[in-house]
Amino acid sequence: MNHPASGALQARAEEINALVSRLGAPAWVRHRRLLEWVDSIASLTRPARIHWCDGSEAEYDRLCEQMVAAGTLRRLNPEKRPNSYLAWSDPGDVARVEDRTYICSENRDDAGPTNNWVDPAEMRATLDGLFDGCMAGRTLYVIPFSMGPIGSHISHVGVELSDSPYVAVSMKLMTRMGKAVYDVLGHDGGFVPCVHSVGKPLAAGEKDVPWPCNPTKYIVHYPETREIWSFGSGYGGNALLGKKCFALRIASNMGRQDVQAGGIGWLAEHMLILGVTSPEGRKYHVAAAFPSACGKTNFAMLIPPKGFEGWKVTTIGDDIAWIKPHSDGRLYAINPEAGYFGVAPGTNEKTNRNCMASLHANTIFTNVALTDDGDVWWEGMSEPPAHLIDWQGRDWTPEDGKAGRKAAHPNARFTVAATQNPAIDADWDSVDGVAIDAFIFGGRRSTTVPLVTQARDWVEGVYMAATMGSETTAAQAGATGVVRRDPFAMLPFCGYNMADYFSHWLDLGNRMQAGGAKLPAIFCVNWFRTDENGKFVWPGFGENMRVLKWMIDRIEARAGGVEHVFGFTPRYEDLHWDGLGFPAESFAKITSIDKAAWEQEFALHAELFEKLAQRLPEDLLEVKAKLEARLAA
Ligand code: OXD
Ligand code: MN
Repeated sequence: MNHPASGALQARAEEINALVSRLGAPAWVRHRRLLEWVDSIASLTRPARIHWCDGSEAEYDRLCEQMVAAGTLRRLNPEKRPNSYLAWSDPGDVARVEDRTYICSENRDDAGPTNNWVDPAEMRATLDGLFDGCMAGRTLYVIPFSMGPIGSHISHVGVELSDSPYVAVSMKLMTRMGKAVYDVLGHDGGFVPCVHSVGKPLAAGEKDVPWPCNPTKYIVHYPETREIWSFGSGYGGNALLGKKCFALRIASNMGRQDVQAGGIGWLAEHMLILGVTSPEGRKYHVAAAFPSACGKTNFAMLIPPKGFEGWKVTTIGDDIAWIKPHSDGRLYAINPEAGYFGVAPGTNEKTNRNCMASLHANTIFTNVALTDDGDVWWEGMSEPPAHLIDWQGRDWTPEDGKAGRKAAHPNARFTVAATQNPAIDADWDSVDGVAIDAFIFGGRRSTTVPLVTQARDWVEGVYMAATMGSETTAAQAGATGVVRRDPFAMLPFCGYNMADYFSHWLDLGNRMQAGGAKLPAIFCVNWFRTDENGKFVWPGFGENMRVLKWMIDRIEARAGGVEHVFGFTPRYEDLHWDGLGFPAESFAKITSIDKAAWEQEFALHAELFEKLAQRLPEDLLEVKAKLEARLAA
C-alpha cells in the first residue's frame, strides 16, 4: 500500500504537470509558485500565446527578425554596424514618466512626500481593470533574469512577464537573462514578480503598429509584497523592469527591510562603479551618484588624459550599484545590470571613446537618426551629414538642425551588453563584488557648488548627498534646466520615505563604525559650473581624472587640501596639472564659495527638510546648523 504522503506528492506532481502543459512551459521550469503566477497573469491578460525565454542568441536573433518584419526594428547596415538595430518609439513614449510612477505601500507615510502614492487596494482595482485582456492578440514573454552575477550572495532574481518583444531582447542585453536563472530558482527560490504590458490589445485581425503603447501609463511598485506592475509604456526604465523599478525602487526597500529582519542592511544606489589603478598597480574602487544624463556613462568609462600615463580606469557599472557590508568591515558593490542603456546625444570619439567602441556592433539604438547609408547619427556625434531621417521618420538636413529641430530625440538611447566595453573591469562579474574606497555625489549646477569637496565625516557626507540639487535634463519628462533637489540622485528612484532613507544611510554608517569599520570617504563634485557667457569652465570628461587622483591621494592621506565651510577642497597646487593648461584664475572660479548664493542654497535645503520634516533624522539638522554657522563666520 502507498504511504499517504506519497499520494499527496503524486497529486502535487500531477497539478504541476497540468499547469506545465497548459502553459507550454519547458522542462527546465518546475517552480510551482512561478507557474501559478504565470497562469494567473495569463488568465487576467489573455495573451494569444506564451513564450518562455531561454536567453539564447538564437532566440534573440529570432525576436529581432520578427520585430524587423513588424516594423518595430530596422536592421542597420551590417558593414557599418554589424548585428545592430534601430527602433523609433511612439513620440508620446520617449522617457521615464515620473508623474505616473507610484510607490503603493500600505501606509502613505512609508512612501513619503517625494513619491506618488495611492492606496494599494485602490491601485490593484485600477490595474486589474487595465490589465484585463490587455495582452489580447499578443505574446506573453516570460523573462527570467538575475540582477547581479548569477550565484552571488549580493544578487537577486526577478521574472518579468511582458507583451513586448523589444523588452525581451533588451532584457537579454541589460541583465543576465535566461535558462540559468531557473537553476538559481530551483523549485521554490524567491523572485521579484514584474508584470509589464504596452497596454494595446489587438482585436482579431487588427494590424499592429510599430511601437504599441497606451496614453494611460502606470509604473507601480508594491514594496511590502515586492511586486512591480507597469502599464502603457514600452520605453526604457518604464518597461525594462529590472533597472529602475527593481534594482532601485524595490531593492532600496529590500536593503532596509533587511535591517527590520535583523540584518545589518544594504544599499541599492543610483551609482556607477569604477576601478582606478595607479601606475604602481594599486587599485581603488569608487561609486558615484549623479542624476540622469549628467555624464555618468562618460565618468564610468573615463580615459585618463595626457599627463596620466600609466593610470587605468575600468568600468564595473554605469548606473546602479548594490552595496553590502562584508565581515572584513568594508562595503562591497556589484553592478546588478549586465548592459548599458545610455543617452546617445553628446557621445562621440572625444567625449567617450570607450562608449563609441562599445557601440560598434550588437547594439539596439532607440530614437536616434538614420543615415543614408543605413547607420545611426545623433547630435554631438560628428558634423551632421547632409541628409538624415530623423527619429520620427522625417527627412532632416542641417538646415532643420539650425532651425532647432533635433535629428535624434534628446533622450535617445543605446542598449548594449557591458561585455562590449573595451574598458570593462576584470572584476565586473565577480560574485564577491569590489570593495568601495569612496563615494562621489554630483549634480549639474551652473553656479554655487564647487568643483570638489571632501566631507569631514560620514554624517556630513550624508548631508551633502541628501541636499544635492541638479538642473533637470531630457531623461525625465517635463521642463529641462530647472534646479530640483535630487537627494543622492535618488529622487525618482527611492522606493520609500526619503527621510527614512537618510536614516538608513546614517544608521548603516553607525552600525559599521561600531563594528570597527573604516567607512569610505565621501566627496561632492560639480563638473558643470559656467562662466558669464554660459560656457562650462571645467573641461570635464577625461580631465575629471585630475579630481579622481586628488580623491585617491586624500584616501591615502598624502594629498594637500584646505578646510573650508563644507569640508576639504584642493588648492590649485594640490591637483596634478601635467598635460593641461588650466589657469589658476579659472580654478578659483569653479572652487569659489559665494556667501550670498550659499545662503539661498541653505534656504532650499530648509525647504527640502521641511517637506521631509516628519521623519527627518535630527543629525542632518545639526549638520545644517553647523555649516550655516561656519558660513556666517
Ligand atoms: C537612466 C536614468 O536611464 O537615470 O539611467 O534616467
Ligand atoms: Mn540612471
